[in-house]
Amino acid sequence: QAEKELIRQSWATVNQDPQHHGTVLFTRLFDLEPDLVKLFPYNSTQFSSARECLASPDFLQHVRKVMLVIDAAVSSLENLSSLQEYLIGLGKKHQAIGVKTESFNTVGESLLYALEKGLGPAFSTPAREAWTKLYSVVVKMMSRGWQE
Ligand code: HEM
Repeated sequence: QAEKELIRQSWATVNQDPQHHGTVLFTRLFDLEPDLVKLFPYNSTQFSSARECLASPDFLQHVRKVMLVIDAAVSSLENLSSLQEYLIGLGKKHQAIGVKTESFNTVGESLLYALEKGLGPAFSTPAREAWTKLYSVVVKMMSRGWQE
């Protein structure tokens, strides 16, 4: 299917450097929603700025984890429901951390931003639409962690 192909192609490019594109994503996220920095206390100390957070090796591991989840979704396009249990559990963890489901909308915007930065004009309107759909499926599954 054309949509899946667009997702696979664009991800193949971005996933060559997940650390970089993931950092672009989170830099944008913290610009849009600076309070999210407070939800990353490693060794029980909060970062005093987005810049400090983005420079932390622990935080960069989280960036990598996020990119791995997206990679899993891209690899499972034919069978996204196979990720359901995992994503519900992941949602539950994030609820416990204090993340609000609304913040995942901002994460989605930031993901589109990072894809656009990374791909330039190759990030076409159909590609954007395909990613919007995929992301909404992932968030729907994670959001079930808040209900159950
Ligand atoms: C774990 C915060 C979004 C995937 C964590 C942890 C924190 C956190 C504090 C625990 C520490 C760590 O493992 O680094 C947040 C915040 C988010 C966010 C504030 C933004 C609203 C996401 C998204 C994904 C994700 C969008 C993937 C789609 C993960 C994974 C783990 C994790 C895979 C490890 C879970 C485990 O240990 O089993 N997150 N996160 N996070 N996060 Fe996030």
